[in-house]
Amino acid sequence: MQQFKPAWRDGYYRAQVEAVRNLKSDMLEVILKPEKAWPSHIAGQHIALTIEVNGRLTTRVFTVACGASFHRETKNIRLITKVNNEGALTPFLSSVTPSTWVNISAPKGNFTLPNTDKPVLMVAGGSGITPFIAMLEDAIENNLIHRAPVHLLYFAKPNEHVLQSELLALRKRTNNFTFALLTRQKDGDVEAHLSHFADAHWLVCGPNTIYEQVQTVAKLAGATLDSEHFAALPIVNIGSLSEKETFSLVHNGQHLAVNNQKSLLSQLQEAKQPVTYGCGMGICHQCQCVKKRGVVRDTRTGELSDSAEQLIQLCVSQAVTDLEIQL
Ligand code: FES
Repeated sequence: MQQFKPAWRDGYYRAQVEAVRNLKSDMLEVILKPEKAWPSHIAGQHIALTIEVNGRLTTRVFTVACGASFHRETKNIRLITKVNNEGALTPFLSSVTPSTWVNISAPKGNFTLPNTDKPVLMVAGGSGITPFIAMLEDAIENNLIHRAPVHLLYFAKPNEHVLQSELLALRKRTNNFTFALLTRQKDGDVEAHLSHFADAHWLVCGPNTIYEQVQTVAKLAGATLDSEHFAALPIVNIGSLSEKETFSLVHNGQHLAVNNQKSLLSQLQEAKQPVTYGCGMGICHQCQCVKKRGVVRDTRTGELSDSAEQLIQLCVSQAVTDLEIQL
């Protein structure tokens, strides 16, 4: 089938790379043309992008950085990513040539513009700006922000704000949208900027540190908060774990010693085992595999699995007993 349809894979959608360009030295914009069958997204949703890198399928999750109206008009979608030189996919992306076929998932996620009469406060950290650009594009295009004002606080390191010209163009299209470009070095921490917005519906997208700060203030202010935040790998609540213990993990006939302090995904990566993964935080299911026997703990909830055969997500599972899995 791949001879006739490059990158055809059962269960995936195909998309063709239209263009790749640098927005900053470490920020890339990738324009993709999804196949017709791809169900268009709602602004703010994300997709999993899968590319074959050195013979291995590699998957990462990206927010679609354009509105659905852009897709409707151009048949293209846009991704924007920070290049992580240590990463498995993003350093490779800059060398992907136009016309290359890749795989994408259906759009996923609930981080979208709320249907509210309240003012909306958007808080973006770094590359967390992308869902807000998509939401604003569609909201302005569809005349959805006439009811109440939308204000964006956009935090980034000095000289690292991207898409400023697009933000200015969006602001020119409506009096109801304003934004501030902020750096923590010059403008102080996130909390200092939130006090005027207690009556607003808050949306935050960015690193865990920003999310936690906004969440703390939102609780005190009684503000409604929706979020999308990212951490390199799930955070383990050490306090809820017993003493460090080591177990045996059997996978595809190989044996590996694993402990109960880190996720199975990070330990398999450290052992240079071939694992497929995406978000690293339990959303995309790319790291899902069959556990044949043993008990794992879900790092998000602390819940223990039973010992029977079942599907687990490696990035949010820790060993509690000896394990056997099928990768
Ligand atoms: S890597 Fe996305 S769920 Fe595990």
